[in-house]
Amino acid sequence: MNEALLQEILRPRPVRYFASTGSTNNDAVQWLNDMPFLASGAVVVADEQTRGRGRYDRQWMTPPGSAIAMSVILKTRRPTQNLTTIGSLAVAEALEPLLPQQVTLKWPNDVLVNGKKICGILAEAVWQNEKLIAVILGIGLNISVEFSGTELADTATSLTHHTGQPIDRPTLIQQVLIGIDRWIDQPNESLHRAWKNRLSTLNKQVTMEGGFTGEAVDVDSDGALVVKTATGTMKRFLAGDVTRENRED
Ligand code: BTN
Repeated sequence: MNEALLQEILRPRPVRYFASTGSTNNDAVQWLNDMPFLASGAVVVADEQTRGRGRYDRQWMTPPGSAIAMSVILKTRRPTQNLTTIGSLAVAEALEPLLPQQVTLKWPNDVLVNGKKICGILAEAVWQNEKLIAVILGIGLNISVEFSGTELADTATSLTHHTGQPIDRPTLIQQVLIGIDRWIDQPNESLHRAWKNRLSTLNKQVTMEGGFTGEAVDVDSDGALVVKTATGTMKRFLAGDVTRENRED
């Protein structure tokens, strides 16, 4: 992967490539600050991140040559939460032709293969004087990251583990971007339907962050997860993490 190849394949989209960087989300914010009129859809790609960030300021691993770390600058009126969903659907659909199994989503937007996380999404809004300038849609996709023997062995996976063959990262990046462009023009209802259809979390016993346990019965139009306890109490979760979801396979 190199800048010339990415620029060629992603033309006319503005592209920045780093062999190594801290975080592509930070690079995207910097790029936007330097060039406020940058076209929507501009993308930062890195081969390695040394300070990759996940949700809730968790660390995100991007060792060299073994992942896709990309941040798309989106100038749209769609809410940040919608864009996270768009990112996860675009990734799931780009991965599916490469895999024998269905790609699912864990609420809110982790992309899973065989119940293990293959991709995480971090959408961050960029504001200037209380005006929303853009949303940075950060996507971290494990291509050949080795998790065996690490604390993530039971929960994380990589694409080559399932395909058994090398992956053409630039083409996969292109497919994800095509998917984002397509979904961004779709009405909320279709987006919500497609998301709900892929959610592995529904109809499962879940444990939410903070320990609340119950059955995930629905996601409402705001994207909130509706959880029902054994006594029938309903609770809505608009944000947070499902810490445990009984396995689907
Ligand atoms: C998560 O599941 O916690 C979200 C992970 C998001 C990681 C990506 S990698 C590209 C972009 N740059 C970052 O620093 N984070 C996102």
